[in-house]
Amino acid sequence: MIDQFKGMKPSRRAFLRGAAAAGVAVAGTKAAAEGEAQILNKQPWNQALGAGVDESPYGMPSKFEAGVVRKNVPWLTAESISSINFTPIHELDGIITPNGLCFERHHGGAAEIDPAEHRIMINGLVDRELVFTMEDLMRFPRENHVYFLECAANSGMEWRGAQLNGCQFTHGMIHNVMYTGVPLRLLLEEAGVKTEGKWLLAEGADASGMTRSIPMEKALDDCLVAFKMNGEALRAEQGYPVRLVVPGWEGNMWIKWLRRLEVGDQPWHHREETSKYTDLLGDGQARRFTWEMDAKSVITSPSPQKPITHGKGPLVITGLAWSGRGTIPRVDITIDGGINWMQARMDGPSLDKSMHRFYYEIDWDGAPLLLQSRAHDSTGYVQPTKDQLRSVRGLNSIYHNNGIQTWAVNSDGVAENVEIS
Ligand code: MTE
Ligand code: CO
Repeated sequence: MIDQFKGMKPSRRAFLRGAAAAGVAVAGTKAAAEGEAQILNKQPWNQALGAGVDESPYGMPSKFEAGVVRKNVPWLTAESISSINFTPIHELDGIITPNGLCFERHHGGAAEIDPAEHRIMINGLVDRELVFTMEDLMRFPRENHVYFLECAANSGMEWRGAQLNGCQFTHGMIHNVMYTGVPLRLLLEEAGVKTEGKWLLAEGADASGMTRSIPMEKALDDCLVAFKMNGEALRAEQGYPVRLVVPGWEGNMWIKWLRRLEVGDQPWHHREETSKYTDLLGDGQARRFTWEMDAKSVITSPSPQKPITHGKGPLVITGLAWSGRGTIPRVDITIDGGINWMQARMDGPSLDKSMHRFYYEIDWDGAPLLLQSRAHDSTGYVQPTKDQLRSVRGLNSIYHNNGIQTWAVNSDGVAENVEIS
């Protein structure tokens, strides 16, 4: 532990009351008499007409937000068709990821599928093998749910130590979207699953022909065959026209461009559930079928890509927390590397297997910070430290890293990815 943080007490709230009593303007506001040109003078946008309603039939973000984009990590991107980019979570607020910012993970590029030509087949251990058109699918009762999708490799590059400088790269293989879709259970009921049908193979129509085995219990529980995200059609990158939603489970199982569902009596042991998406433990054994994403959280601001630029005074610390097992009733925050833990303020909807937003407001005195967040989920599970994870799983793992993240913020407000023990 770093000495200078010992005994440091978080100060917060009272400054607002104190400042008001003393007649001092709260930092970030200015008395009108100080004469801000931007408020006293007319600005160009006051003096000319703006864009007409026909100019953007599909609305795009302001040009001043041009930096809020998905980004990749060049050394992870040998070939963009079999690669990954990352959600800019440091720039977002609330819990919903806008469609154009959802990270992408493709194993064979994003397929371009004409929905009129697309079919979904159910075969194998069923009473009736069926083929659905998209129109057929739309005639089943549908549901709306907000769920996070986290790639099992999220934070994988951080297993052995702090590496990437920004939560977009350390934690951005995640998005949180409202899906509209048909419960998978209804389609399986239509086909009639035979009693020996205990597993389901979901297959994608893309060039990678991605396949994963899913236990029937999960398939009949809360999986969706989804065609809308945040109200509009899925984006091509996210599996247009239809993808599987496997709430709370690792992203790899959420088959995009879904074309086939085969019912079987045992798992298929395909590539993505054998050599990939398993964790090589210290003793050489592979930890397999670890589908549920454990509770995790990260402070999104301040963070390396979101330094403190406003100096001392009121500072909003915020971040995201999620669990594949339920909701997040509580997140703890430390600003001194774990000496003192305070409860963050949860804000916004608390939905099952969805991201949660938390805030913690402080009066920053300009002293260095060691920021961490720790999620508690509705099962009572508490997010572990990276050392705790490594003591159980060894150093060979890549996938399923839900360890606590640390940002060191210096007195200039610059933040850096570090590890402390
Ligand atoms: N489905 C198909 N058909 N092909 C793929 O390459 N990638 C998987 C999964 N489903 C993939 C797929 C992986 S590893 C993840 S993490 C998620 O889709 C990513 O979903 P997204 O691109 O919508 O973020
Ligand atoms: Co993935």
